[in-house]
Amino acid sequence: MASNQGIGDSQIKDKISNTMVGFLGGGRMAQAMAKGFISSGLVRARNIIVSDKNEEMLDQLESIGVRTTMDNREVVSNSDLIVVAVKPHIVQPVLREVHQVVSPDKQLFVSIAAGVTIKSMEEDLPEGTRVVRVMPNVPALVQAGATVMSPGTHAVSDDAELVQELLKTIGICEEGPESLLDAVTGVSGSGPAYAFAAIESLADGGVKMGLPRSLAIKLAAQTLLGAAKMVLDTGKHPGELKDEVCSPGGTTICAMHTLEKQGFRGTLIDAVEAATLKARELGAKSANK
Ligand SMILES: NC(=O)c1ccc[n+]([C@@H]2O[C@H](COP(=O)([O-])OP(=O)(O)OC[C@H]3O[C@@H](n4cnc5c(N)ncnc54)[C@H](OP(=O)(O)O)[C@@H]3O)[C@@H](O)[C@H]2O)c1
Repeated sequence: MASNQGIGDSQIKDKISNTMVGFLGGGRMAQAMAKGFISSGLVRARNIIVSDKNEEMLDQLESIGVRTTMDNREVVSNSDLIVVAVKPHIVQPVLREVHQVVSPDKQLFVSIAAGVTIKSMEEDLPEGTRVVRVMPNVPALVQAGATVMSPGTHAVSDDAELVQELLKTIGICEEGPESLLDAVTGVSGSGPAYAFAAIESLADGGVKMGLPRSLAIKLAAQTLLGAAKMVLDTGKHPGELKDEVCSPGGTTICAMHTLEKQGFRGTLIDAVEAATLKARELGAKSANK
């Protein structure tokens, strides 16, 4: 990251509210982020412009008040901060398409594409373009996202602060080296899917044991939410919290024994590894394009 003096908190908030935010690709993540930014009150819907090739996506986006277009160049020409939110294999063609309308001194590119490296982004954009690579997740939609960001070679500290502050409107945002982002994809980028499957399975268990489906889903979801909040609020190790709820000879330790016999922890570790390796594979492809 290039060096630059940081700016104050209220100045960053002012800067965010005056920033025109563009999205290249208006799918699930772009919609989650755009809705999160708007709900935070810091970004006005009219300051967001989104492009997509899919008319259905554009209709969904128009319903939240943002400007839409099918022209990626129009997004870049009208934005200060451009979120690259297309699938990883589409990043290179899209950046080549917009290359001519990029102003490296004025614009900042924020890529959310899994596995696409800062180096390959910088190579596909005009020399000196400021790039920040981030890995968000879909709970951004309800301002409970988890994002890690890594500034590129030409990004200055103001860029990192701006992106971090913007992403904090949709959850937590930590800064880390790019080398960690594939593992971040494995834990939090793909993680909501594991949590949704866990909620569904817990609810299935409840239904099997006689609970109405809607009550079972509500209980399962609130239980994951509550347990997660306890980990974050108390700062205690999750193993310690687990021990505290396993009373000797009780129901919970019997359930834990069943989970251990079925390889619960090993399965989750394998899942994180599989997603990380897939992100790494996508990154290697983008580096050898
Ligand atoms: N989903 C997640 O939980 C998550 C989490 C972290 C990061 N990410 C990253 O976020 C990015 C987007 O993922 P997503 O899940 O939001 O995908 P998505 O729902 O498929 O959204 C991508 C959108 O881009 C559109 N598109 C395709 N080609 C285009 C082009 N040339 N110009 C403009 N738009 C184009 C697609 O239209 P068509 O459908 O017509 O092709 C689609 O609407 C990916 O790079 C992914 O790695 C996703």
